[in-house]
Amino acid sequence: MPTTKTAIVTGASQGIGAGLVGRFLEEGYNVVGTSRSVTKSTNLTASSRLALVDGDIGDPKTAQRISDTAIERFGRIDVLVNNAGIFVPKPFTEYTSEDFNTLVSTIVGGFFYITQNAVRQMLQQQSGHIVNISTTLVDQPMAGAPCALQLLTKGSLHSVTRALAIEYAAKGIRINTIAPGVVNTPMHENDDHEMLGKLHPIHRLAEVSEIVDAVFYLNGATFVTGEILHIDGGAHAGRW
Ligand SMILES: NC(=O)c1ccc[n+]([C@@H]2O[C@H](COP(=O)([O-])OP(=O)(O)OC[C@H]3O[C@@H](n4cnc5c(N)ncnc54)[C@H](OP(=O)(O)O)[C@@H]3O)[C@@H](O)[C@H]2O)c1
Repeated sequence: MPTTKTAIVTGASQGIGAGLVGRFLEEGYNVVGTSRSVTKSTNLTASSRLALVDGDIGDPKTAQRISDTAIERFGRIDVLVNNAGIFVPKPFTEYTSEDFNTLVSTIVGGFFYITQNAVRQMLQQQSGHIVNISTTLVDQPMAGAPCALQLLTKGSLHSVTRALAIEYAAKGIRINTIAPGVVNTPMHENDDHEMLGKLHPIHRLAEVSEIVDAVFYLNGATFVTGEILHIDGGAHAGRW
């Protein structure tokens, strides 16, 4: 088996995902970056160390193409970052069945299929690390920012993080989750950053590099699994 480590990053075309791809490449990893239109991303260029796979992450066929690409091109899967996501905030009664299907497919399906494939490979290697990106709102919902369906789906990542940490700890596979506050990415490019900054006790948005640093902290933290790491300027800690 090759020795160079391989990372898969979902939602790689922009924002946190593109930042992660850049850092994994800098750190010497081979990378598979994926999103619905990652091959058209101006942030990433395919290379001998970066494979790009287009597809909806909620579709099991996309997950299969991603893991097949990782194995065929690079021979192993060491890290999976489940980062692809959308944000659909609404009062609870205004969510439609289309919103429900889209969020469940993207967040829950987007976690499920690719993580199954990655774990199968990691079991053969007897090592691996999975990091999910959720939101601190799962643990600290806010008046004025209703998004219950978002939290129904993202919250499931917190539960499954603990479940899989226990299921696979003895097999050398760790799983952790990062729960960010509002991050300065294209997701919020048209929003009022001053107002969003006030949603954290540290009155600003997180930068992509701060989420990337947290992923790399967890990646090197060999005794940490089942952890929900809040990168939210203190929002989860209480009221302010
Ligand atoms: N920004 C924040 O304030 C914030 C806060 C808390 C949590 N998060 C979470 O952090 C993650 C990254 O967010 P971001 O701010 O970097 O968002 P972003 O800039 O909007 O990027 C989202 C990424 O997900 C991909 N994506 C969306 N739906 C997809 C689908 N069905 N299949 C495959 N890829 C899909 C998008 O690419 P394509 O359009 O090419 O598919 C894009 O690469 C998300 O899970 C988000 O929920 C963000």
